[in-house]
Amino acid sequence: MKDRFSREITYLRISVTDLCNLRCVYCMPEEEVPKLRNSDLLSFEDIVEIVQMAAELGIQKVRITGGEPLTKPGIVNLCREIADVSGINEVSMTTNGILLPTMAMDLKKAGISRVNISLDTLNPQKYRNITRKGHFEEVINGIRAAEDAGMYPIKLNTVLIGGYNDDEIEDFVEITKTKDIEIRFIELMPIGEGANFHSEAFITAETILQRVPELEPMSHREGVVRLYRLPNGKGRVGLISPISQHFCSSCNRVRLTADGRLKPCLHSSQEIPLKGLRGKELRQAICQAILEKPLKHELLSPAFPSQAGRCMNEIGG
Ligand code: 5AD
Ligand code: SF4
Repeated sequence: MKDRFSREITYLRISVTDLCNLRCVYCMPEEEVPKLRNSDLLSFEDIVEIVQMAAELGIQKVRITGGEPLTKPGIVNLCREIADVSGINEVSMTTNGILLPTMAMDLKKAGISRVNISLDTLNPQKYRNITRKGHFEEVINGIRAAEDAGMYPIKLNTVLIGGYNDDEIEDFVEITKTKDIEIRFIELMPIGEGANFHSEAFITAETILQRVPELEPMSHREGVVRLYRLPNGKGRVGLISPISQHFCSSCNRVRLTADGRLKPCLHSSQEIPLKGLRGKELRQAICQAILEKPLKHELLSPAFPSQAGRCMNEIGG
């Protein structure tokens, strides 16, 4: 269905858990992580029912996120049930990749066509520093497992943080010369732990184009991503610039939090509770969320952080 500004809402992102096996510095605190109560979480039945109703209202694409979705027990079954909902023609996942080696094949069979894997650095020691807990080999094995399972195209999400990994822009781009992979540079957002960073940490997408001027724009723009490639490069470079360029006018998504609240806009505190609703009431609540989707969010900056009211691990990026 369309919102008040004639945007067709076709994409639902679902955070299935706020828990994660990593603690990325811009996302979660190292210790004393606030945790949602089990009794507040949606059950798998609740989630499937919401997806069914959302599909009736025009949702076609679903992305499973977290926290880390692969830490959620039974996730493969949930993915299968979502993929089987009539009207849903694509189910994908955003994951840190750590658990993919044992799960990629089953996920593919369950209907997860492709995955976006978070990888912010190509240096094992830096990977440890950024994720606080992760081992670089684990995510590399995860990327291989996704490739072996035929989850194409593989997309890597790279959040650039000035002083941490902005010296690796060229190295990341270089990968796309020979590999059919999409490197997606995402601007750091002042949300959750990201709000604690100094202004120098916020690197704009333009910096990438300045550093790698050979990048050629590709003709089509996919949703929130601007796509580029190296001359004769096999892969692609995607720029996602929530800070320096609004993409609100083409926003086609709503987000479901692990505790059952529908967020019409990532950066607004507005949430419509869906937990416990069934049938007509559920339908009305989803319609309300779509109709209340704001035209745009305010420009974000370290001085004007996101009004999301939650950390990314509860909303799912
Ligand atoms: N700014 C930008 N991206 C973020 N993510 C988490 N926190 C932030 C932030 N503050 C991204 C992760 C991952 C996805 C789940 O959300 O890098 O790709
Ligand atoms: Fe976990 Fe992703 Fe947050 Fe890192 S960015 S702590 S992998 S949810």
